[in-house]
Amino acid sequence: MKEYGTGSCSSRILAGTTSLHTKLESKLAKFKGVEDALVFSTGFMTMAGTVSGIMGKGDVILSDEFNHASIVDGCRLSGADVRIYKHNDMGSLEEHLAGRPASANKLIVTDGVFSMRGTVANLPRIVDLAQKHNAVLMVDDAHGTGVLGKTGRGTPEHFGLDGRIDIVCGTFSKSLGTIGGFAGSSKEIISYLRLNSRPFLFTAAPPPSVVATVIACLEVIEEEPELLVKLHDNTRIVKEGLSDAGFSLEDTVTPIIPVLIGDDRITFKVAAALEDEGIMVNPVVAPAVPPGNSLIRISVMASFSTDQLVEAIRKIKLVGQRMGIV
Ligand SMILES: Cc1ncc(COP(=O)(O)O)c(C=O)c1O
Repeated sequence: MKEYGTGSCSSRILAGTTSLHTKLESKLAKFKGVEDALVFSTGFMTMAGTVSGIMGKGDVILSDEFNHASIVDGCRLSGADVRIYKHNDMGSLEEHLAGRPASANKLIVTDGVFSMRGTVANLPRIVDLAQKHNAVLMVDDAHGTGVLGKTGRGTPEHFGLDGRIDIVCGTFSKSLGTIGGFAGSSKEIISYLRLNSRPFLFTAAPPPSVVATVIACLEVIEEEPELLVKLHDNTRIVKEGLSDAGFSLEDTVTPIIPVLIGDDRITFKVAAALEDEGIMVNPVVAPAVPPGNSLIRISVMASFSTDQLVEAIRKIKLVGQRMGIV
């Protein structure tokens, strides 16, 4: 803060870009294996600004029905023809793709890891379909970055698809511990976004202290791989513990663990009862999930000790029994 000040006090293209912003963009491009990257002030603005920055009237967007609200709003902002395909349903995606004129600009957009249920997009098949139908592919890897793949580079690395995704995006508000977001792609697309994405252009740049935090956090991911191992070990302990206790869990490989409940009132009651026991979980209801599909979202961290996890599982089981869920 002494060197750069407390805030940017300007948009990125006026006086808001410091050497830290450009350093972070180069670091992110390298981390994600893309030519260039662009840093936005929030993850929401990244997705909304990337989709609406490259797509417009007359173009076609194919969007998963469970994509994050930032993508949904980006689609609306773009004015493009938006087709929603069924969640992770490749038949539905192909049907929508096949019905569009070959000459139309097409964008397929999907979360890498879906934020509420922790499911992972079927990227291998989506990459094939994008190639077959000459569509651009954008992945919002908010929850995959720093979490999936051998080195935490995200959902594409998890599937061995590094370099096969046209636009990879993410946020700094999950594994990177602060606020902001990024889009990574070819130099051509990033240059285009830099001058055409209104949520990038017309807002203040992220403060230098935030940017420096992200640089430091990326270094942690690169230099402390044991954290990633611990994260997945911890996830396994919680999943096995809850399954053994009789909870109905979705089959996922991510540290987002959804406990499906269905009823909104019971969901809020369970979250409140757990808070009383010192366990913080998220009650998730519509519109974050379809009505009638409410759930408790448990997020596992690498910093939890095994003792803490065993105690948490014991308390979750207790509350589950008291509420009649297990
Ligand atoms: C999948 C996904 N995309 C985008 C965002 C928006 O990111 P942020 O909260 O950092 O603005 C979120 C955050 O909740 C998310 O889960």
